[in-house]
Amino acid sequence: MPNAVIVGTQWGDEGKAKVIDYLTDKSDVIIRFQGGSNAGHTVIVDGRKFVFHLVPSGVISPGKVCVVGNGVVVDAEQFLAEVDELEAGGISVSGRLFVSDLAHLVLPYHKALDSASETGLGAGKIGTTGRGIGPAYADKVSRAGVRAGDLCDWELFCAKFRDGFSVAKRKVEALHGAAFGLDEGEILERYRYIRERMLPFIKDTAFYIFEAERAGKRLLFEGAQGTFLDIDHGTYPYVTSSNTVSGCACTGAGVGPLSINHCVGIVKAYTTRVGNGPFPTELNDATGEALQREGHEFGSTTGRPRRCGWFDSVMVRKSIQLNGITRLAFTKLDVLNGLDEIKVCTHYEIDGGRVEQWPSALHRLDQVVPVYETLPGWKSDIRGCKKFSDLPAKAAAYINRLRELCYGVPALIVSVGPDRAETIEVDPI
Ligand code: IMP
Repeated sequence: MPNAVIVGTQWGDEGKAKVIDYLTDKSDVIIRFQGGSNAGHTVIVDGRKFVFHLVPSGVISPGKVCVVGNGVVVDAEQFLAEVDELEAGGISVSGRLFVSDLAHLVLPYHKALDSASETGLGAGKIGTTGRGIGPAYADKVSRAGVRAGDLCDWELFCAKFRDGFSVAKRKVEALHGAAFGLDEGEILERYRYIRERMLPFIKDTAFYIFEAERAGKRLLFEGAQGTFLDIDHGTYPYVTSSNTVSGCACTGAGVGPLSINHCVGIVKAYTTRVGNGPFPTELNDATGEALQREGHEFGSTTGRPRRCGWFDSVMVRKSIQLNGITRLAFTKLDVLNGLDEIKVCTHYEIDGGRVEQWPSALHRLDQVVPVYETLPGWKSDIRGCKKFSDLPAKAAAYINRLRELCYGVPALIVSVGPDRAETIEVDPI
């Protein structure tokens, strides 16, 4: 398989982990390049469920090397908890899991800042995952961050930690008027132990990836969140604090653009979103509740219920433009099994005028009226289908119509259930 990057085309939670798992089989090195433990990737293998927040989900495949790239913000405690869980489950990561020395650390004071800032915003809050992501990226960009490589020099780490801690304390107490509640000495004591455990994982991963590619290894870049949570292209300010589009794989892993040959866009057969912000095709009715129930639409990081709505082709077309998508991977088609009819948003209207392109300005998005086409439901269980031709004609027609609305991009797979085996391969790369 050529090198590929996987991205979410909607607001995250598209079922990326399953597609990553499918492509991991054909790859050698799997690399996370942005985000942090705000991600929640769930993979089910033989009925056993694994949830990853930081460690690339490819790690469950024996012998594959996994990299947490420089563009990720790393909560070392969360990282080690995942390592412990994997090892307890009989999956050894020793010598095949690395963290970039340039990756910034999410420290306990970033979480305190995240929570204080959300409280301060009141009704206008973003609805973050509370994992300290925004404040960690803010420190990175303002050149006040602490990097994984700093752990190699304990005195240096302590000095940088103390600086960050005191600034965060002042912000939380003075700016937000909240109690800080963190003890510097206690955290540093914990980090003395965390440091010992982290050191074997820390590496110049950009060089490792370069050498792996030169040796003919196949690279898979694992995106987190989704295109519309991108800090530039998403529904700003209701976004995460990293670039989630495919181009970020280059900066977040340290490779050039020619190292990536394919971009796989993950598309849920309907739409969901967690947190606040606009959602043109949202369903605040019994159908929305049915999608939430049938799709188990509850966040794997926070447990929050996900808002649900119809498939929005305007969004996915924009994703194709932004990411250079060469294959679409359709997920959760089986969730629609019970519906009599299914709506698909083909375009929007604003003041009666036709709008084909995603309006990026939030005030314009608030004005859009989605225009739907109605397709018949297939009303049968498709979980046992092994080939595209096994699908009921109406289910196949649904996928074909979505593809047609999405520039005719070929389908990589259609997922018809959560298990690894419940995957229909359509047009492989
Ligand atoms: P943050 O990334 O925790 O700062 O949260 C910012 C926004 O991104 C919130 O609306 C979150 O719900 C959303 N978000 C962050 N990570 C994910 C994810 O992995 N899936 C879906 N939404 C996410």
